[in-house]
Amino acid sequence: MEITVRIKRYDPEVDPRPRWAEYRIDVTPTDRVLDVLNEIKWEMDGSLAFRRSCAHGICGSDAMKINGRNRLACKVLVQDLGSRIDVEPLPGMPVLRDLIVDMEPFLDSYKAIVPYLINDDPAPPRERLQSIEDRARFDETTKCILCAACTSSCPIFWTNGRYIGPAAIVNAHRFLFDSRDQGSAQRVQVLSSMNGVWRCRTAYNCTEACPRGIPITQAIEEVKRELLWQRQ
Ligand code: SF4
Ligand code: F3S
Ligand code: FES
Repeated sequence: MEITVRIKRYDPEVDPRPRWAEYRIDVTPTDRVLDVLNEIKWEMDGSLAFRRSCAHGICGSDAMKINGRNRLACKVLVQDLGSRIDVEPLPGMPVLRDLIVDMEPFLDSYKAIVPYLINDDPAPPRERLQSIEDRARFDETTKCILCAACTSSCPIFWTNGRYIGPAAIVNAHRFLFDSRDQGSAQRVQVLSSMNGVWRCRTAYNCTEACPRGIPITQAIEEVKRELLWQRQ
């Protein structure tokens, strides 16, 4: 089938502002948007810039706005989009070039919640054991691939880029509810701050955008409740 792909392009050295470029291309319905972008880059216009790596929904590098929704280009089939596809960089993030956004502020928020296990007890001879129930407590939030589809779909983040955003909160949840971790004081400080978890207004965009199906809004509510418990 022949489709029309419009890509919002921007080269800061040449373009005063982003512009739409249009491509007519032959595809098979089961091609993914990533296949289409590769075809355009390899056969039609080598200057097109976008990130990708694993091509299988694991690395999180090809999140972009496709027909109005944040998704991974490697997980969306052309047959589910129709004969006209619009591709834009993730909203609310500074565009470096074409579909490539600056991930540094996003990763700064991730680093701020101290995303690793903290436990100063002497190491046991083997692993630090945990019950099945305790492990299940944070199972969903271990699935994050840091694609930024959630944070860049959040209306609160659009108006306040300093809000740490759902991705950082999801990763805080992963350690906050880990029975082996002792680092919650550091995380709670960040989460309770002016641009922390209380900025969330339960818009749900983040949950709808997550390609890993993580119940993000629920995780955020659990973090809020935990903060209230710790205050008492
Ligand atoms: Fe991506 Fe989901 Fe992680 Fe957000 S929570 S960064 S949408 S995988
Ligand atoms: Fe934003 Fe998700 Fe909260 S979209 S307002 S972080 S529920
Ligand atoms: Fe890795 Fe799509 S290329 S998630």
